[in-house]
Order: sequence, then C-alpha cells, then structure tokens
Amino acid sequence: MGAREAGLPERVPSAAGLPDRVRIWEVGARDGLQNEQSVVPVEVKLEFLDRLAAAGLSVLEATSFVHPKWVPQLADAEQLLAGLQRREGVSYPVLVPNARGLDRALAAGVSGIAIFASATETFAKRNLNSSLDEQFGMFEPVVTRALAEGLEVRGYLSMCFGDPWEGAVPAEQVVAAGRRLLDMGCFQLSLGDTIGVATPGQVERVVAGFGAPDRLAVHFHDTYGQALSNTLAALRLGVSTVDSSAGGLGGCPYAESATGNLATEDLVWMLDGLGIEHGVDLDALVRTSAWMAQQLGRPSPSRVVQALSG
Ligand code: HMG
Ligand code: MG
Repeated sequence: MGAREAGLPERVPSAAGLPDRVRIWEVGARDGLQNEQSVVPVEVKLEFLDRLAAAGLSVLEATSFVHPKWVPQLADAEQLLAGLQRREGVSYPVLVPNARGLDRALAAGVSGIAIFASATETFAKRNLNSSLDEQFGMFEPVVTRALAEGLEVRGYLSMCFGDPWEGAVPAEQVVAAGRRLLDMGCFQLSLGDTIGVATPGQVERVVAGFGAPDRLAVHFHDTYGQALSNTLAALRLGVSTVDSSAGGLGGCPYAESATGNLATEDLVWMLDGLGIEHGVDLDALVRTSAWMAQQLGRPSPSRVVQALSG
C-alpha cells in the first residue's frame, strides 16, 4: 500500500509559525550503521546511499573517518567513498574528529565534514578520549584547515539534553559549548539528544538559549518516543534543518542506552501533515528501509515503515 492510499494527508499551506521547507539531514548510513552488531558490506552501504538519493534526500551523511578500532563498522570509509556514485544536487558529508581523520577525508575527496563535540566531560572522555576543554583544541585546527580547503564544516554537540553518567545537563553548559563550535566557523550546529531523553519544554529552553535559530539543527534519538514532539517544538522556534535516519536506525556505541534516531519516514509523514516541503518520495523511502531491514535481519522500528510495508 502506498502512502497516499494509506491516508497520507494532502499538502496544505504550512501552518503559521512553521518553516515552509525543512532540510532533512539523513544520517542513516553513518549514525544508523555505526551501531550495528555486524559490519554491513560496503556494497550494501553503497546501494543504501544510492536508494536514499533516488528517494529525494539531498544530504546523506555517508560515513566517519574515525579510528577504525573505535568504530569497526565504518572502517571501510575509504572504500565507500571510492565506490560512491555521487548524484547531482546531493551532498555526502562525513564525520571527522581530528587531523588524521581530516587527512583521510581530504584524500578521499569529500566536500563537507562534521566535527562532533560533547557538552559533557564524561562523554568527551568516552567518545573522543579527550577532556571537555581539550576537545576544542583538537577540533580548532581541523576546522581551520577544512575551511581553507574549501570544505563545508558542520558541528555536532552531543548530550545536549541529558547524559547517562552525569544526568541532566544545564542549558547554559550546552549553549557555552555550542557557541565555541559556531565561533570556530561551523556553518551549523546540530544539537544532539544522543540518548533520546529530551522533552519539548527542554528543547525550547536549549534552542531559545542560543538566541537566533538560523544556524541550529536538531538531532533526536527516539529512545523514549519523544523525537517527533521534540522536532515539532524546534520547528516552532524556527529551526529548519532536522537530522533523521531512514527506518529509524542508529545509536552510538559509546553512549549507554542510545537507541535509533528519529526515523526519516516518521518525520516525512509529520511534515506532510503540516504542509512543510521536504522533497522526499515517501513510498520510495519506505521501500528502501524495508529492504535495509531485510539486509540487517530485523524489522525497522519506524512506525511509518511498519504501517506502510506490512
Ligand atoms: P585516540 O586513541 O586518543 O587517538 O582516539 P590518538 O590521537 O592517541 O592516536 C592513536 C593512534 O590512532 C595513532 O596511530 C593515530 O594515527 C591513530 P599510531 O601513531 O599509534 O599508529 N588515529 C587514527 N587513525 C585513523 N583515523 C583517525 C585516527 N585518529 C587517530 N581519525 C579518537 C581519539 C578521536 C581518534 C577516537 O576517540 C575516535 O575515533 N573516536 C570516535 C568515536 C565515534 O566515532 N563515535 C560515534 C560518533 S559520535 C555520535 O554518534 C554522536 C552524534 O550522532 C550526535 C549525537 O547523537 O549526539 C554525532
Ligand atoms: Mg546520533
């Protein structure tokens, strides 16, 4: 059954106070596959990326140039980039933590990178083997060199709404760390709810803490089922880039209790209902996630994928 036959709402003019268009930053191939038990063959990753592009997604975070021992699932980053059939109008950014990662990414011919910092001390140590303060010293030369090479640089900030070791994270701490990434030259800052504990009121406080929303994106994991409500709260405050992962894959191997990202299909269903443009063919995307679920040997956690592919 297609989305339209299943009752997908007709597009209406976008509701007052919401953006006309949302840019979906698809992280399925990176965040989605970095947490899988098994290593997905590079040919499957390439087909996944190509099907996502064909479904209309225009930003596909492809992989990470991190230490292969830290994330063996993405150790094939060079092979992946070498085999990528780049489609016109689609960008394929990659995660880079340090100078070595940037060397590798530049050699692979990327045009955009994302650095990824932590808002908390414990996660900086666990994810980057660095202190909260030291991580900025690691990122600064990476950003400077990447910008000089003409790359687009995005910043991620993890644990913005709660940390499994430190508990609640004060909004001021998040804003202070996030500002450092923006001041370094990141064109955008993606606020990560790495373990999926945020609620809409908290999202409002953190987003509002930054003042203007135009350089912010949101990145919600869906552990407690709040990702879509949190997204709506952020859209109402003027955020118009949303990270999500096809089929709701995802998680972080270094964050206890992290589960999948907001599913792109769930996001698209909501955006359609709100009359917000996104450029994605939902039926093609659902077929892609159903195919990927078969490759991984388990059903997609996305409610929309389940409803439309049954
Ligand atoms: P380290 O062990 O401290 O590294 O790891 P080091 O600088 O001490 O170097 C040790 C050796 O590793 C050296 O080799 C380096 O060359 C090599 P040796 O001289 O001993 O032969 N090395 C590398 N090799 C390949 N690629 C590299 C690299 N760097 C060093 N890039 C490091 C520090 C940052 C590398 C490590 O902690 C790491 O790779 N961490 C990545 C963890 C990760 O990928 N986590 C998941 C992504 S973050 C996320 O999912 C959250 C997000 O989705 C948002 C949200 O949900 O909140 C973005
Ligand atoms: Mg994530």
